[in-house]
Amino acid sequence: MERYVIRGGNPLRGTVEISGAKNAAVAIIPAAILVRGVCRLENLPQISDTDTLLRVLTYMGAVVRTLNPSTVEIDCTNVHIDSLPEDIWALTRRIRASYYLIGAMLGRFGAACSTMPGGCNFGVRPIDQHIKGLTALGADVRVEGGFIQARAKSGRLKGAKIYLDKVSVGATVQVMIAAATAEGNTVIENVAREPHIVDLANFLNSMGADVRGAGTDVIKIRGKASLHGGSYALIPDQIEAGTYMAAVAAAGGSVKIANVIPKHLDCISSKLREMNVEIEEGDDFVLVSREGDLRHTNVKTMPYPGFPTDMQPQIGAVLCCAAGLSVVTEGVWDNRYKYIEELRKMGAQAQVDGRTAFIQGVDRLSGATVRACDLRAGAAVVIAGLAAEGTTRVEDIQYIERGYQDIVGKLRALGADIRCVDEPAEPPVVPSWIAG
Ligand code: EPU
Repeated sequence: MERYVIRGGNPLRGTVEISGAKNAAVAIIPAAILVRGVCRLENLPQISDTDTLLRVLTYMGAVVRTLNPSTVEIDCTNVHIDSLPEDIWALTRRIRASYYLIGAMLGRFGAACSTMPGGCNFGVRPIDQHIKGLTALGADVRVEGGFIQARAKSGRLKGAKIYLDKVSVGATVQVMIAAATAEGNTVIENVAREPHIVDLANFLNSMGADVRGAGTDVIKIRGKASLHGGSYALIPDQIEAGTYMAAVAAAGGSVKIANVIPKHLDCISSKLREMNVEIEEGDDFVLVSREGDLRHTNVKTMPYPGFPTDMQPQIGAVLCCAAGLSVVTEGVWDNRYKYIEELRKMGAQAQVDGRTAFIQGVDRLSGATVRACDLRAGAAVVIAGLAAEGTTRVEDIQYIERGYQDIVGKLRALGADIRCVDEPAEPPVVPSWIAG
């Protein structure tokens, strides 16, 4: 079984290059189905989620050429949705973003089919707002036997005015993709404003779409008959950058986090400053240093520009080492605290009550065998392992590799003692005071 073995205690020093944004990539790759021609994507992260989506497109008849590790060309001239091989569904079930195939297939063919999506388990993850949006655009959407099927009632989607009842990244992306080639104009209100929403709009526009207002809470789209090929470079990953910032906060040291948009990191930087972490901003980097003791703080997650839910576990791990009592409130998901149980195995003092976690900082965490319960929970236990005394073994690392490009290589280059090893499951080590 592959796992990460981390010997904690090394401060981090040096420079880390941030990869392209996962949540932009997983929206943009399905959106490429709308493009009749070649679209070239640069700064694409090399993670298993993008790999899975590229394989799905290949099964649909797209030709994918890798020009260098972070640049691919996708030619969707001959994509189709007829007689798709069964193997495709094992891939679509694996990831959350596979539901964007529905909007893209509807936009291109007026009909669509995919499985219900997979992804991290944070309790109930409804898709009612996706269905509401697609229905408003004139699609008949059915969910049956684990599949989503949709058909544009008049053969082509029609622009509409849509108010999303909940600020949802997924529903915003879904409707943007579907409306880009719908007939007429679409207005989507109460949309998500995350950087990856703006990135998707910029991608669609560079392929000939007309999408305005991304980054505000109203998006207006003039539907185009079709989109043409082009070239697009994705934005850097806000959450990957935030994860390395949290790692420096927990382990100590000083790291230049390069290839970032510092503005996207404001909410994370200001929380870390409250915790006694120094942050200097450059044009496309942040320099993060922590020498003294960490201070406690309170965090509440909210849609952008609030503190991102996708950074909650990582900041939770840092707060486990910060003097005093911190209160973390999860404002987006019902159940995103599975990592706390893992951190408790490392000596963290934390309690969860509903959507709130109370974390009393300890002087030092101690290494243990822990699980990556999901992608960001996995990042949290890695961060805890870097700060802990002794050896931490992280299991179920496939979740981490869904969203972090070469996390082991990047941390090792900063001086961390972390390795990916293939070793059999071991019996738990009995603490010396029990073993006598
Ligand atoms: N919601 C509904 N109905 C819907 C859709 C969402 O009630 O139809 C609710 C959800 O239950 C949740 C809230 O709206 O309470 C926000 O969900 P959202 O739709 O914004 O989440 P998502 O699109 O499923 C994306 C990211 C997540 C990230 C959230 C919030 C992707 C592929 N995933 O999920 O990223 O946590 O937005 O920012 O973009 C991650 O990267 O680790 C990750 C989980």
